[in-house]
Amino acid sequence: MCGIVCYVGPRDTKSVLIEGLKQLEYRGYDSAGIAVQHGNQIACHRAVGKIVELEKKLAGLDITGESGIAHTRWATHGAPTEENAHPHRDEKENVFVIHNGIIENYHTLRKRLQQEGVHFRSETDTEVLAHLIAHYYDGSLSEAVRKTMGQVEGTFGIAVIHRNEPGRVVVARRGSPLIIGLSDGSRFAASDVSAMVRYTNQVIHLQDNELAVLTKDDVSISTAQAVSVKRDVETVEWRGEDIELSGFPHFMLKEIYEQPNTIENAMRGRLEPAEGVPKLGGIMPVWDRLKDCRHLVIVACGTSFYAGCVGRYVFEKLTEIDVQVELASEFRYRKLNFPHNTFILALSQSGETADTLAAIKEAKRKGASLLGIVNVVGSSIARETDAGVYNHAGPEIGVASTKIFTSQLTILTLLALLLGRHQNLSLTDGVEAIRALKQVPEQIKAIFAQANHIEAIAENYYHCSNWLFLGRKYNYPIAMEGALKLKEISYIHAEGYPAGEMKHGPIALVNPEMPTVAIVPQDDMYEKMISNIQEVKSRRGPVIAIATQGDAKIRELVDEVIEVPPTLSFLNPLLTVIPCQLLAYYCAKFLNRDIDQPRNLAKSVTVE
Ligand code: F6R
Repeated sequence: MCGIVCYVGPRDTKSVLIEGLKQLEYRGYDSAGIAVQHGNQIACHRAVGKIVELEKKLAGLDITGESGIAHTRWATHGAPTEENAHPHRDEKENVFVIHNGIIENYHTLRKRLQQEGVHFRSETDTEVLAHLIAHYYDGSLSEAVRKTMGQVEGTFGIAVIHRNEPGRVVVARRGSPLIIGLSDGSRFAASDVSAMVRYTNQVIHLQDNELAVLTKDDVSISTAQAVSVKRDVETVEWRGEDIELSGFPHFMLKEIYEQPNTIENAMRGRLEPAEGVPKLGGIMPVWDRLKDCRHLVIVACGTSFYAGCVGRYVFEKLTEIDVQVELASEFRYRKLNFPHNTFILALSQSGETADTLAAIKEAKRKGASLLGIVNVVGSSIARETDAGVYNHAGPEIGVASTKIFTSQLTILTLLALLLGRHQNLSLTDGVEAIRALKQVPEQIKAIFAQANHIEAIAENYYHCSNWLFLGRKYNYPIAMEGALKLKEISYIHAEGYPAGEMKHGPIALVNPEMPTVAIVPQDDMYEKMISNIQEVKSRRGPVIAIATQGDAKIRELVDEVIEVPPTLSFLNPLLTVIPCQLLAYYCAKFLNRDIDQPRNLAKSVTVE
């Protein structure tokens, strides 16, 4: 969704800001803008569409300055027009502001300002901030921002410059991420660390209701109540090359191919093979309560939710814990009634998904303990939870989540194993599970060896406008995830169904034009899946099977087979999801879609 980049220092401000915006493109946006300050001159330009449109406007202009702010906007209040794009400014063009989040009382504030004679140029909620800051300005931008913070309700990450305060950027946050970057003689701020990781890995996570004043060699942080605070400088582990394509045509393909590594990273230093017990240092602060937990609620959205759905089956297999999986956007409005010692586990790549964050805050209010499996270190969900485990998977840039899904499955399995081994799971089963988990990265490489075959299947079927994905038990969530991947990047309509439900409706759709992807590894659901495949075939529906290597029987039945190596039944999803990701990728490629930035989608969904 919206992205913020700020810079103060001796570099070419315009280039730093534009490069930073490009690193945020993956978040999804529909317009972009920049304001660069030199002395008391501020050059502000905005454009609808991609950043390249903004670059066209800037081409040939001599824009230099010691500081600046830049923004990508994902429209919420008002259409994606140039007038609605950020930065927004006050009437005298002294104050320029960019904003992520939503000002909930903007309507009241706008009316009040209009009654005072202020003329608005846009339909956005953000513009009220520019007018309020100008209204309160009395020689100190930070004080004007602080007073404005006291007036607004809702969420914001903002960055502001003022004509009279060259070389200074004021940033503030409440509910929307803002990270400050430090390098020699330069200060950065951004809504996402990837916008600055090229220049520095030294960061400060601004906290809610804090404000920071950035100059080229200083950062001073204070609360909304003007109490000065000291925040630790942290080192981020993401590297410059993590945000490069490194020879791949798309980030999505790069991230699919990173999975053997990201699964290794999720396990690194966390396995004790001889004991059959993982070590998860991040959950130790709550271990005394967690080890006796009998009720776990997993909350998440989208692909992370499907990882949670696999997790439920894995926990049921390995532990005595009763697991509930909930869509965060629904869970938060339910009447929450937990048994004693319930843990809520949030799954989130970004750590900023508004619904997941709101759901865990609500659960905390009701007395639950919070765990998180999060990729972005220092993100809001990571900070809100009592304890948790990081994915250590590096940035996921492709909008369609791939490597984080398998990383989440790996960590969920480790967590289930750890708890299971403290309950009834035997040493033999624990050792066996760890042995099988360690083989997964190599097994995924064996699936990559079939990439050409998967591409050829996609070429045969990408013209079909409806697809069905079927699976049972561990692979039912993979059917849903496979359908989601296909629809979000290729725009082909796809349904993911538990195969047993097919007869209760979707079978009516089966015809020679609708491919069914059947996820049918040799597990305890195999024979049932074979019956479902036969039902599709007898209605002349083409079937693409994702099956266990060497399964001769399935070849007799279906049109296409993609093989996955044999593993323990509860680990199959780590393998069966890979062909689904590649099928979606190649269909989207044949349809010439914008794979890394599919239409209407945002990587980090920070509005409800
Ligand atoms: C789909 C996808 C989304 C996210 C969802 C949750 O490919 O990426 O469905 O999984 O928006 O995001 P996080 O995991 O950041 O909370």
